Amino acid sequence: MIRENLSIVILAAGKGKRMRSQKAKVLHEIIGEPMLFHIIRSAQKITNDITVVVFHQAEKVISTISSVFPDIKFHFQNDDEFPGTGGALRDIQFQNDNILVLNGDMPLVTSEELQRFLFIDSDIIMGTIRLQNPTGYGRVVTHHDEVMKIVEERDATAEEKEIYLVNSGVYLFKKEILEKYLTKLTNNNSQKEYYLTDIIGLARNGGYKIKSIEIPETIFKGVNSKFDLAEAEKILLNRIKKEAMQNGVTMHLPETIFIDSQVEFIGECEIEPNVVIKGKTKITSSIIKAGTVIEDSIIENSTIGVMAHIRPNSIIKNSKIGNFVEVKKSNLEGVKAGHLSYLGDCEIHENTNIGAGVITANYDGKKKHKTVIGKNVFVGSDSQLIAPVNIPDNIMIAAGTTVPSETKIEEGSLVLSRTNLRKISKFFYKFFGTKDGN
Ligand code: UD1
Ligand code: CA
Repeated sequence: MIRENLSIVILAAGKGKRMRSQKAKVLHEIIGEPMLFHIIRSAQKITNDITVVVFHQAEKVISTISSVFPDIKFHFQNDDEFPGTGGALRDIQFQNDNILVLNGDMPLVTSEELQRFLFIDSDIIMGTIRLQNPTGYGRVVTHHDEVMKIVEERDATAEEKEIYLVNSGVYLFKKEILEKYLTKLTNNNSQKEYYLTDIIGLARNGGYKIKSIEIPETIFKGVNSKFDLAEAEKILLNRIKKEAMQNGVTMHLPETIFIDSQVEFIGECEIEPNVVIKGKTKITSSIIKAGTVIEDSIIENSTIGVMAHIRPNSIIKNSKIGNFVEVKKSNLEGVKAGHLSYLGDCEIHENTNIGAGVITANYDGKKKHKTVIGKNVFVGSDSQLIAPVNIPDNIMIAAGTTVPSETKIEEGSLVLSRTNLRKISKFFYKFFGTKDGN
């Protein structure tokens, strides 16, 4: 539900030192998309006014987001003068009276949980998490269940470090609070940064009402390291696999199956262990067998695998693709390719059988070329089709044949290339010096 009078600001300017990576933290991928995309999708379900604060690798962050979400606004943090989460919000012109602030490193956040903030009446509502191991998080100091302030781990006393209630990094502020206190923040702390979290204490002393809501860790977990990234990915994966199963997909040993967030299943599908499905793949009423990898492709009424590799831009319908078959950017309809083939840049029509070890040689060292194979074609095992080549309908190609590029073939033909078979008697025994005494 879209809320009027609500702006969302996502903080994504930080460096993410703890990731130990060249890549901006918020661009690290979780199930196939930068973590920031997951947050933006949740935010877009409740408002149209979203601003992302950028600084480190700003250009890359902006171009990555804009290519998918053209309506997002950006604000450049003045990191030289005002580093820190409090500095990030300075000088933003807020359009609406209610400002929901989210850390950019919370890919697990759902719109349902964010909605909960909007139903509470208070000047500030902050999300908290209760953790068994609160290391790294800001601790929420309470008194008789009321939030007094937030203390960052590095500035916390030994006693404060024993607090298990931590700041999730999600806050709903009345605009006047940000306008009043953002410029009053100081960098008088161990990191010499302007902490947004200090606003809680300031507003509290200023007599504003602060409420907190406790949120499950599986939703508001922050990603600060590559270990966190892997943990967050597991949680998101479980969510989408559960949803797929609820919609009728059968999964065997689902904990071994990897699915990107944009993958779509239609009808009744079955997925065996160790399958990886990536990108914008759409699978309809098909069986994907063990160890298969599918990327950015469309699969319909087909069986794929075991251990097949379907690479981007393939469309496979009513087909049976078997062991160790690699398909790339190809359109297969009603095809059987049971074993050990490479089918790249091709179009193959109904009732055609591709024998074991058939290869479409699509690359001449400079360019990629296309192979077209018609209906009812029998391509014998271990044949090579050198592209560009067009095999018409009703053809038999004998095993071991090499079809050179641009070969003209008449419909209904048998095509074969064979070297003569030689048989040299007793060669084995001469060579190994056995039998007949020698
Ligand atoms: C922050 C909170 C901490 C909370 C935790 C929850 C502060 C001071 N601390 O700590 O209380 O428990 O999140 O995950 O806010 N960012 C900017 N500009 C900056 C610095 C950071 O935009 O100058 C962005 C980062 O890109 C990131 C988010 O703010 O997306 C949080 O920054 P991070 O450095 O991860 O904060 P934490 O130390 O985790
Ligand atoms: Ca963080």
